[in-house]
Amino acid sequence: MSNADFEKILETSDEWIHSRTGMRERRYAADGQASSDLATEAARHALERAGLAATDIDCYIVATVTPDYQFPATACIVAANLGAVGKAAFDIEIACSGFIYELPMAASFVRSGVFRRVMIIGVETLSRIMNFDDRSTCILFGDGAGAAIVERTPVESDCFLACELGADGKNPELLYVEAGGSRHPMTAEKLAHKKDKVEMSGREIFKYAVTKMVETSRNVLDAAGLTLGDVDWMIPHQANLRIIEAAAKRLEVARERIVVNIERYGNTSSASIPIALSETIERGRIRDGDVILFTGFGGGLSWGSIAWRWSA
Ligand code: COA
Repeated sequence: MSNADFEKILETSDEWIHSRTGMRERRYAADGQASSDLATEAARHALERAGLAATDIDCYIVATVTPDYQFPATACIVAANLGAVGKAAFDIEIACSGFIYELPMAASFVRSGVFRRVMIIGVETLSRIMNFDDRSTCILFGDGAGAAIVERTPVESDCFLACELGADGKNPELLYVEAGGSRHPMTAEKLAHKKDKVEMSGREIFKYAVTKMVETSRNVLDAAGLTLGDVDWMIPHQANLRIIEAAAKRLEVARERIVVNIERYGNTSSASIPIALSETIERGRIRDGDVILFTGFGGGLSWGSIAWRWSA
C-alpha cells in the first residue's frame, strides 16, 4: 500500500506522508491471511537460519494486538502450524512494545533453566483494524511479522546485558481500540461508529515516544556499564522517522549506526524491531560481539530498551 494508493482514497499526498513520517509504502496481508499465517512464515525463516526443527523450541511466544481470535492464543496456532504441538505457547499484548517485552522474558526463561530455547515472534495485521477515514492514523501502520530464537549460552557469554521496561495506563485512550473488550462490548452502534478500529492522539504519543526512548536508552547503558560509544547498532521501533531522528539526536548516536526501514513497511508494531533485526543480519552487518541497543514504545502507554551483545 503506497502513499500514492492513499492519495486515491484520502485527502493526502505522498509529500505530506513522507515528510511527516518517512514512510513511502507499507505491506498489507492478503485477504484471508491471518496473523498466525504471517507469524508461521517468519518462524520458519528463523528456524531455517538457526538450523533447528520446530520441535527444538520449548516455548513459542507471540506478541500481537491483532490475534487470529480473541482467544485462544495465536502462538498455539503457530506452534501447531509448525508441527510443534505439545510445546508451550502463549501470547502477550503490549502493543508496539511487544518485542521489547518478549526478549527479556525469553532471556529470563533460558537463564533460569525453565526452557532451553524460546521463539519470540512479533506479528501484526493492523490493516484489519484501521479506520480508513482517519487520515492521520491509517497511513502509519502496516502488516508484518518477525521472529527470533533465544537460546542458552555458557554463563560467561551471557548476551542479555540490561533492560528497562515500563508502562503508564492512566490514559489508555491515547492509543486504543475502544470496543470489543469487557469495558465496551461490541454493539451495532459501536460498529457503526468504527469503534472496532484504532484511535490515536498522535501528538501526545510523539512527545512521549521521544522522551521514553532517550531516557530508557541512557538507563540501560548505564546499568550495563556501557556508553553510547559502545553501541554498534541501535534498532528502534519504527513508528515515525522523525521520532527516531529526534531520539537519536538527543542521544548523539551517529545516523549510520541506526537501523531504519520505515520507508518500506510503515509501523508494524511488535513486528518492527525483529524485521529490522532480520534485515540487518541478512545484509551481513551484525558481527559476533556487537552491542545492540533495542528501544521502543507503544500503546499502554508502554516502553522499554534493551542492551544486548550479539552472539550467533
Ligand atoms: N495527509 C494530509 N494532511 C494530514 C494527514 C494526512 N495523512 N494527517 C493529518 N493531516 C493534517 C491534519 O489534519 C492537520 O491539519 P490542520 O492543521 O489543518 O488541523 C495537519 O495535517 C497537522 O496535523 P498534526 O497532527 O499536527 O501533524 P503531525 O506533524 O503531528 O503528524 C503524526 C501527525 C500522526 C504523523 C504524528 O503526530 C505522529 O507520528 N505521532 C506519533 C504516532 C505514532 O507513532 N503512533 C504509534 C506509536 S507506537
